[in-house]
Amino acid sequence: MAIFDTQVVSEHEDGAISSAVELLRAGNLVAVPTETVYGLAADATETCAVQQIYAVKGRPSNNPLICHVSDAEMARGYVEIPPIAEKLMERFWPGPLTLVLPRLETANVAAPVSAGLSTLAVRCPARQSTRQLIRALGHPIAAPSANPSGRLSPTSAADVLAGLGGKIAMVIDGGETEEGIESTIIGVTAGKLYLLRPGTVTVDEIADAAGETVYDRDESEITAPGQLASHYAPNAPVRLNATDAADDEVLVGFGDVAGDFTLSLSGDLREAARKLFRTLRTADAAGARAIAVAPVPMSGIGIAINDRLKRAAAPRNS
Ligand code: TXA
Ligand code: MG
Repeated sequence: MAIFDTQVVSEHEDGAISSAVELLRAGNLVAVPTETVYGLAADATETCAVQQIYAVKGRPSNNPLICHVSDAEMARGYVEIPPIAEKLMERFWPGPLTLVLPRLETANVAAPVSAGLSTLAVRCPARQSTRQLIRALGHPIAAPSANPSGRLSPTSAADVLAGLGGKIAMVIDGGETEEGIESTIIGVTAGKLYLLRPGTVTVDEIADAAGETVYDRDESEITAPGQLASHYAPNAPVRLNATDAADDEVLVGFGDVAGDFTLSLSGDLREAARKLFRTLRTADAAGARAIAVAPVPMSGIGIAINDRLKRAAAPRNS
């Protein structure tokens, strides 16, 4: 794998976007901020560049990638958009909602983006600099989270460097991400909606906007092969629903459980999502034998937080 002197450039710096576009056009990978987590971007039409994403992350080749578009217009060139999906795009784009839709036969995307499926995941990120970059490139970017496969997702440029420094050409630094966890993923098939991954856009908000039920992924034929049991793993093992910690554990609190670090002292779920991966990194860096985490309520955004925590605590794949 090529060794790079990874450049870090502020999203506000003059020429940042145009040099990133040049690198992408030449088949390189560039990490970009979004409102959720940092993404590892390749031009979605370039097969070699997309293959590099899998190589650099150590990602299983059967785990498809999300195509990030600059607007709904761009998405129309790649996927079939039924009226119910149209409604969701109108309400939530740009923003942290990914839609899995039938890929158009005419769609110009590199085959490894879909990893053998007939669908394509599309998302229009809220982060303006990244939409600008996509518009300037003129193609969608394929971008998974910019972390080694299975590890904590990055919410700052420094997190990206810690995991992928030396392996990618450039990181665009846009500070800490606002949402803190990955987008909600909704699969749309035969006019029905299925929750494939919970996020900060909640099922209730989606059901409200669509005027339809959102079904569980288990009831769907849509496969999301990348949703492995163990994911988002810090170095230390994670113990859930803890109200106190053993001597050699560090306690991550929420609400009434103060802990050594807290996700949100006031019990605010949006704040807890924003701080989740940052806090797990900090707890890991404290060098504890294990990370104990306080209970987080299973409602609203808490469903997404618990999904990430459950995977962080699951037995490791390797
Ligand atoms: O917020 C996000 O979505 C971030 C930022 C960078 O945009 N991206 C992200 O990508 O979380 P990644 O690759 O870490 O997670 C994408 C998930 C994977 O679980 C993958 O299996 C699923 O989306 N996925 C992608 N394409 C799919 C498809 N066609 N059908 C079903 N699942 C799909
Ligand atoms: Mg990921």
